[in-house]
Formats: sequence, structure tokens, C-alpha cells
Amino acid sequence: MIGIMCAMREELEPILEKVKIEKEIDYARNRYYIAKYKDLDLVLAYSKIGKVNAATTATILIEKFGAKKILFSGVAGAIDSDLKIGDLIIATKTCQHDVDLTVFGYEPGFIPESKVFFECDEKLNNIAKNVAKKLGIKLKEGIIASGDQFIHSKERKEWIAKTFKASAIEMEGGAVGCVTWTLGVPFFMLRSISDSAEEGAGVDFDEFLEESSKISAEFLIEMLNEIVNEKMS
Ligand code: ADE
Repeated sequence: MIGIMCAMREELEPILEKVKIEKEIDYARNRYYIAKYKDLDLVLAYSKIGKVNAATTATILIEKFGAKKILFSGVAGAIDSDLKIGDLIIATKTCQHDVDLTVFGYEPGFIPESKVFFECDEKLNNIAKNVAKKLGIKLKEGIIASGDQFIHSKERKEWIAKTFKASAIEMEGGAVGCVTWTLGVPFFMLRSISDSAEEGAGVDFDEFLEESSKISAEFLIEMLNEIVNEKMS
């Protein structure tokens, strides 16, 4: 069973259009879709925005629905200047930029008995890179930082860039990274850029959410095709 999650309805809908939904289950104030894509068994959901919602949904996908890997698709704000609206990025690792226990001498993002960075699955990242190469799609790889804040300031963006060496920002990946690391499940994160995370980002986000969500969703479907092909070969 492969778990596919997004944060928002707009991000999940273009994926749902491409799979065969077999069952819809309402659970814990959310809807989970049991579906097939070719011979792959899928469970899909959008969590709602933010780290707590994302952690809850990731945990339910794994613990209740038996997801053996989690693939995340959606949009992000750009940090790296070479990332433009609609560009795709996969995470090498994720972190939580809003975790601050620095008063106790810990580095930003660190929680005792946990860690700052949660690595994404190398095998799934290699599948993504193969797909990008085959289709001639530009795909960046980098650190993606998460926090319960929509970033729309150059100052905050630069602090996140400097502190975590992050290439993009969103509001869920660090939480899903933590859950999947805790439960020992491979995690893959794909995002398409919706805004620059600077002043005016809110306007761009509203304008490009749908378009960038589709770009991410279409790439994720191509990855499922590649996973099917690899299973058969
Ligand atoms: N997701 C998309 N754009 C974002 C931004 N600027 N800040 C946080 N999450 C985002």
C-alpha cells in the first residue's frame, strides 16, 4: 500500500482524477480514498494545512491504512533564486524551521532525542530523477524547510535559507519527515513552486496554487508509472 498525501484539496484533486477510487472512508475528521493506479494499491488524503494536521494524516495513513511508503505532493515557496513558479523540487531532507529551543543551547530546529533534519528516501528520489531525465523535466533537489507560517518576507526567508540551507519552504514536510522517521517508513516529498516567499507571496500563491498543484500531481503520476514499470521488470 502506497500512501499519497497533500496538504490542500487543490493539491490532491488532480491526483484523484487519475486514479480509480474504490472506497472513501471518513475517519478522524478527514476523508481517506482507497484507490488503484494500474496494479498499485493506494491510500490518499489531504491533511489540511500545517504540521499538526500533516503529522496526524501521515500517522493514520501508516498505522490505520498500512501505507508502506509516503509520497507527498504539493506546492512550496521558493528560497533558491533559480526556482521559478511552476518549477519542481524534491527534498533531500526536511526540517522544522519554527522549532526554537535555542535558549537551552540547542541549534535552531533541534528537539532533544530527535534531530534537525529528516532524510527523504534515496530510492524514491532516484526514481524521480529518472522520470525527470526521461521526460526532459527540470527537477531540483534540496532541503525543504517547514513551519506553521506562510512566509512572505525577505528577511524571514533569508534567515531560513542561512540557518537550514533550505531551497524551498512549506508547512508540512518537516512534520511528515519526523513521523516517517519515527515509524521507519520511506518518505518522498515533491513540490512545485507557487510563490517567492517574499512580499506579495500571498497574491502569487492564490494565483498559482491550482496550476503548480497540477504540475506536481502530474509528475507524481509519472512516478507511479515508473514504480509500476520497475515492479514488472
Ligand atoms: N507553501 C507555498 N508557499 C509557501 C510559503 N511562502 N510559505 C509557507 N508555505 C508555503
